[in-house]
Amino acid sequence: MAQNFDVVVIGGGPGGYIAAIRAAQLGFKTACIDEWKNAAGGPAPGGTCTNVGCIPSKALLQSSEHYEQAGHHFADHGIGLKDLSIDVTKMLARKDTVVKQNNDGILYLFKKNKVTFFHGRGSFVKATEGGWEVAVGGESLVGKNVIVATGSNARALPGAQFDEDKILSNDGALRVGAVPKKLGLIGAGVIGLEMGSVWRRLGAEVTVLEGLPTFLGAVDEQIAKEAHKAFTKQGLKIELGVKVGEIKTGRSGVQVAYADAKGEARTLAVDKLIVSIGRVPNTIGLDADAVGLKLDERGAIVVDAECRTNLPGVWAVGDVVRGPMLAHKAEEEGVAVAERIAGQHGHVNFNTIPWVIYTSPEIAWVGETEQQLKARGAAYKAGTFPFMANGRARALGDTTGMVKFLADAVSDEILGVHIVGPQASELIAEAVVAMEFRASSEDIARICHAHPSLSEATKEAALAVDKRTLNF
Ligand code: FAD
Ligand code: NAI
Repeated sequence: MAQNFDVVVIGGGPGGYIAAIRAAQLGFKTACIDEWKNAAGGPAPGGTCTNVGCIPSKALLQSSEHYEQAGHHFADHGIGLKDLSIDVTKMLARKDTVVKQNNDGILYLFKKNKVTFFHGRGSFVKATEGGWEVAVGGESLVGKNVIVATGSNARALPGAQFDEDKILSNDGALRVGAVPKKLGLIGAGVIGLEMGSVWRRLGAEVTVLEGLPTFLGAVDEQIAKEAHKAFTKQGLKIELGVKVGEIKTGRSGVQVAYADAKGEARTLAVDKLIVSIGRVPNTIGLDADAVGLKLDERGAIVVDAECRTNLPGVWAVGDVVRGPMLAHKAEEEGVAVAERIAGQHGHVNFNTIPWVIYTSPEIAWVGETEQQLKARGAAYKAGTFPFMANGRARALGDTTGMVKFLADAVSDEILGVHIVGPQASELIAEAVVAMEFRASSEDIARICHAHPSLSEATKEAALAVDKRTLNF
């Protein structure tokens, strides 16, 4: 006997679990199905983000940053330490605890919001009276509406499948049991830089091989250049414009054959290799064919601007559809879809989705880059302010980087804000709010910011648009 729901969500990552909670808040009888298992085989909702993505990576970034500070920067504050050591097992156990707190938190939120949770794989069966039949384990659910939020998986290099021992995806990269002497990464994208930073701080010799000739091509060039300088100074070796060839694993590690930017043949020998060359949408096990759910050539579920698929009442959100693969983008789409099902006008503004790379210095941005503005022939003004001239940054002992504003030359509307430096991940929120309210750079320049704070660099960068910084 099928159980009937107004909304059945398949996938319990940030897109799915948030969609389920919002749907339940709106009064819908809601189910959420998720198949992720913890080490004991129990449910571990939260998806890639909670289990092998955002949360565990930030836990390790924090632990490794503490180690780096203690080893290299505490002395500047007059703090002496003897016999500094790192217990990787304990560091990983702490990370696992943080993950579990988040898994448990989601299960609690399901209970609180009366979302019925099913642990297992959800697969489409057929269109049926009253909606869509979805099988999970031995049970059958019928949803008037179905929201698919099945996420993404790491993309492997052809001929170098992940064994999670020597060739690692993000999953294995977060479980390395001891600091490797030499670590290689393929792809100097977000994961490459974050995970490369973790293991470099802990003492690994890290080499990143990037296929493109430019470093962080999606980032504002001036900001990317500053970040590149900082990472190189820290000891991260980044080779751009390489062509990766054969990858061999042996008892002693991994050998990567590649051609460097000049086309010369080289070999990188490492103990472990992380492959971080992007992610692919995941529809494994969904049985999309059973109901004729349309996928594109990349395997992503085809949706319109409002996340409707080709099937009436079936929606899809998050990494499994077009757009940036970010947890907060997935969440916003989940909320918007639940609200649309309720007849409301859910909306996601793709122009104000912030990006953050949690390295040190952090990199964060929202809106257009200077190169994008140039490419579309926009008339714009730019203003920058270095953290070197910010009192709080000096007190922190972290003066790398800058805040950069880009504003329309005529209306002064903010078109993009780009930050490389301390706490960029937090500072960017002000820029997102400003852009969402279509503020001008003068609006930010005229707002009182606490002193001393890093946010004063944001105000000063806004002042710089009009060439009237006060502290630089
Ligand atoms: P997912 O989180 O992938 O969740 C999908 C869920 O659906 C999974 O639990 C999966 O098991 C389940 N599932 C799949 N198929 C089925 C099925 N048929 N039946 C039942 N369950 C199913 N983004 C950020 O914004 N900030 C970050 O700092 C950040 N850091 C990251 C670090 C790493 C190392 C990685 C890999 C990613 C990171 N991301 C980050 C990206 C972020 O994790 C994803 O954008 C986000 O998880 C996407 O959410 P989702 O709900 O679409 O999918
Ligand atoms: P990415 O798209 O950020 O970077 C992949 C990099 O690999 C690119 O620079 C690309 O040019 C390079 N590349 C691709 N094929 C290559 C090849 N054959 N040889 C050499 N280089 C190659 O992807 P990544 O780092 O795997 O992360 C996946 C996604 O996960 C990100 O795009 C992001 O959406 C999300 N994520 C977000 C984080 C955050 O918000 N802080 C953190 C980590 C991941």
